[in-house]
Amino acid sequence: MILITGVSRGLGRALTEEFIRLGHTVIGCGRSEKEITQLQKQFPAPNNFAVVDVSSDEQVAAWAKRILSAHAAPDLLLNNAALINRNTKLWQVPAQEFSDVIDVNIKGVANVIRHFMPAMIKQGRGVIVNFSSGWGRSTDAEVAPYCATKWAIEGLTQSLAQELPPGMAAVPLNPGIIATDMLRSTFGGSAENYPSPEKWAKTAAPFLLKINSADNGKQLTVPVH
Ligand SMILES: NC(=O)c1ccc[n+]([C@@H]2O[C@H](COP(=O)([O-])OP(=O)(O)OC[C@H]3O[C@@H](n4cnc5c(N)ncnc54)[C@H](OP(=O)(O)O)[C@@H]3O)[C@@H](O)[C@H]2O)c1
Repeated sequence: MILITGVSRGLGRALTEEFIRLGHTVIGCGRSEKEITQLQKQFPAPNNFAVVDVSSDEQVAAWAKRILSAHAAPDLLLNNAALINRNTKLWQVPAQEFSDVIDVNIKGVANVIRHFMPAMIKQGRGVIVNFSSGWGRSTDAEVAPYCATKWAIEGLTQSLAQELPPGMAAVPLNPGIIATDMLRSTFGGSAENYPSPEKWAKTAAPFLLKINSADNGKQLTVPVH
């Protein structure tokens, strides 16, 4: 089973469709009720889509309890859900917006790990992929809050990798540059010069399925063709 956060659009949505096409079961979440209901209709059980805000530890705890009572632990867990700040200088980012980016991009990832990891460890296998960014390994003006969270993901994930029992893996992943709502928010019109999520998923899904315990702690990047 593959668990993905942030399946209502963008990379999470495209991966959901591609993994199901390849014969996998996908469990996913997002905040947008309409898209989640539509996904469940399009891809019925054993696939399962739920309205969950990953920044809420309570919501993630309840989701994990529900999923783990009906399914084995995830073989592949993708912490994909994230936000980006509106392009602006750090000192102009409102406090609430800064908090929201931290709460989803860092604390949301920790919440999902907190509630799914024990079952994965008990199962004795599984791969955790935390979505980083080019901006988790470099920086630019006007995206300081986002960069801070993605650099945090690189550190958090490599620490986690050092804690895992043999046979498991945790990796930070730079997915590349893909024309999603998030990219349009920060790149504007030039976002359309980049591949669509659907095209990206054709390369990304098989790449993700090959990650194994030999990759534990490695800073991975989806190969661009
Ligand atoms: N696109 C790129 O070029 C690019 C480059 C580098 C890294 N990334 C990373 O790749 C991942 C996916 O990005 P994307 O471009 O697909 O972004 P996107 O199009 O903005 O989609 C983000 C997804 O995350 C969900 N989400 C946001 N906050 C959430 C929350 N609190 N709880 C649950 N779900 C939440 C959104 O759904 P709802 O709004 O319905 O909750 C949506 O499904 C992110 O980690 C991003 O940082 C993307």
